[in-house]
Amino acid sequence: MKENKLKKMKDISTSLAGVKLRNPTILASGILGITTASLIRIANSGAGAITTKSIGPVKREGYVNPVIVEVPCGMLNAVGLACPSLDDSLGGLKDTLRKADVPVIASLYGRTVKEFGEMAEKISEVKPDFLEANISCPNIENEFGKPFGTEPETSARVTEGIKNSTKLPLIVKLTPNVSDIKEIAKAVESAGADAISAINSYGPGMVINIETAIPVLSNKVGGLSGPAIKPIAVRCVYEIHETVEIPIIGIGGIQTGRDAIEMLMAGAAAVGIGTGIMKRDIKIFSEICEEIRNFMNSEGYSKLNELIGKAH
Ligand SMILES: Cc1cc2nc3c(=O)[nH]c(=O)nc-3n(C[C@H](O)[C@H](O)[C@H](O)COP(=O)(O)O)c2cc1C
Repeated sequence: MKENKLKKMKDISTSLAGVKLRNPTILASGILGITTASLIRIANSGAGAITTKSIGPVKREGYVNPVIVEVPCGMLNAVGLACPSLDDSLGGLKDTLRKADVPVIASLYGRTVKEFGEMAEKISEVKPDFLEANISCPNIENEFGKPFGTEPETSARVTEGIKNSTKLPLIVKLTPNVSDIKEIAKAVESAGADAISAINSYGPGMVINIETAIPVLSNKVGGLSGPAIKPIAVRCVYEIHETVEIPIIGIGGIQTGRDAIEMLMAGAAAVGIGTGIMKRDIKIFSEICEEIRNFMNSEGYSKLNELIGKAH
């Protein structure tokens, strides 16, 4: 009976830069940290791929609490890229790779182009399925004084620096906090990116506690995520799809199968899920897959491919 049901289930596999995913749902970077146990729980709960929290060159404590605050339709976060050192992260990453039965995306950030290249080389030794360059984080100081991802030239230089240091497929994660995301997408594609993920959190924003009359986050400002940013994410993915040939992972506010389908129709080949886990727990991955299948059945779609870019 169970086997019959499985046989009838629609194939919703997808592919990213030559790597096959059993379904289009991906754990977005940072939401469940970097520990093997939590990443494997997500893989076992049905995600098509998992992304680590961004790994940096040196240990960072991050900001003191509170680092997250809930807002209507999402949350603000300023974690400050808390992470162990690169050397301490590699053992855990190796363990995750050994235990995961889905592709693993290793996210990294550096403070200079050179550092991005050196880190990519080191992380490549443990052979994750992809590297993802986080060029969009507002919370770290770097050699240009602003996030690499806010200018086409600096975005391209990081991309090139990493591509010269590794043979692994490279995903570059873009920030929505730019006036023209198409220019950035074009620059990273020309510099050799194999895929783009969009978007990182939006903002920054601020929440003030009116009793104490001070901002709630210790960093005062933080990035907005969740349903509040979904229309921005959909627009970014739509524009990127019109501009580049490489596949896109659409991220931002996805909480339901309908949200995921909207992102696929904008042009994403897969979708990243972050804040949605807080709302629906880790079963969100399998539930979204089920919801996508139900929609395809009721609307007469036979392959996931038919949804990708359909809104263009
Ligand atoms: C608490 C928290 C930590 C995050 N850490 C990272 C990170 O380390 N690297 C990264 O590229 N993005 C990070 N992000 C951004 C998410 O991966 C994602 O791009 C963003 O939250 C939008 O998706 P969502 O609305 O599904 O959460 C973080 C987001 C949150 C909420």
